[in-house]
Amino acid sequence: MDRAALDFANLPFAYQNTDANIRFWYRNGAWSEGELTSETSISLHIAATCLHYGQEVFEGLKVFERPDGRLQTFRLFENARRIQRSAAKLLMQPFPEHLFREAVHRVVRANRRFVPPYGSGASLYVRPLLLGISAEVGVKPSHDYLFLIFVTPVGPYYKGGLTPVRLLVEEAIERATPGGVGDVKCGGNYAAGMRATIAAKEKGYAEVLYLDSREKKYLDESGSSNFYAIIGKRYVTPASPSILPSVTNLSVRQLAKDLDLAVEQRPVSVDELGSFTEAGCLGTAAVITPVEAITYRGKEFVYAKDGKAGPITTDLYRRLTAIQLGEAPDPYGWTEIIPEG
Ligand SMILES: Cc1ncc(COP(=O)(O)O)c(C=O)c1O
Repeated sequence: MDRAALDFANLPFAYQNTDANIRFWYRNGAWSEGELTSETSISLHIAATCLHYGQEVFEGLKVFERPDGRLQTFRLFENARRIQRSAAKLLMQPFPEHLFREAVHRVVRANRRFVPPYGSGASLYVRPLLLGISAEVGVKPSHDYLFLIFVTPVGPYYKGGLTPVRLLVEEAIERATPGGVGDVKCGGNYAAGMRATIAAKEKGYAEVLYLDSREKKYLDESGSSNFYAIIGKRYVTPASPSILPSVTNLSVRQLAKDLDLAVEQRPVSVDELGSFTEAGCLGTAAVITPVEAITYRGKEFVYAKDGKAGPITTDLYRRLTAIQLGEAPDPYGWTEIIPEG
């Protein structure tokens, strides 16, 4: 295999064209067999429900090259199940789990030369997307659907990997509400939060931290990742009906238990900001990103000094990435080697 001529060690987190994407169509009550194509555009009806009524859900997962050169997925079935939940909530046709796995394997194999080499610090980001494509003008669900997956090689979401970032508690703008769709991965959630994120970036923060929309008292999550705090020997992460259940957070909760930390998933009040000893963001893209400081009502709470992540965050990061990269044994069966096909 000739690897693509890319500077893999310095990749940004950005779209990069590859050789192929894979598409499945749901028509007349059945999914098609899936076709690989190098075409990067799709042709949609101008009245498609994804365009007008937001029938659009997606996923994000990563594929890693192991030290032995084989490729592996990380907790793929969690993403397969999450997009089914997302689809069900938006009255969309769920895409079957076994086809999800097959689709990831096929599209990754077709783009083998774009998988960043082991040791580059980069990985192959896999982006599944489900769209309602029937023409409707009244508000109702589509009959027909397109499921597709594209892949793109990416570097760290926040520059510098384990480099601490600053967050701003957002009080005015709400991303999601209890009873809404904040717990599923649909495009509308990101549109709702974009103005908060961009404004925070302009002020020098990496992201915002949303509060629960009912009381504006409890920490929810960031625009693109879950949140945790370390309080002494406790790993504390918000329980909320309006946050996305993160696969990374699910995994790190287990790793925290392995480190003999007590794991608490519960409402986390802003009044506790002063008690955190460490804090971090969690996500497929963010991996574990240490939080240097959180600003709330003009007051800055500092958790990482001199640009260095705290010891527990560093340990969790090492354990997680060692499993993802195939450097350490995977006692939980989270990874799967992609057969060569
Ligand atoms: C809003 C939001 N929360 C949390 C996450 C983290 O989820 P995961 O760890 O499954 O990538 C993401 C990224 O997918 C996200 O977009």
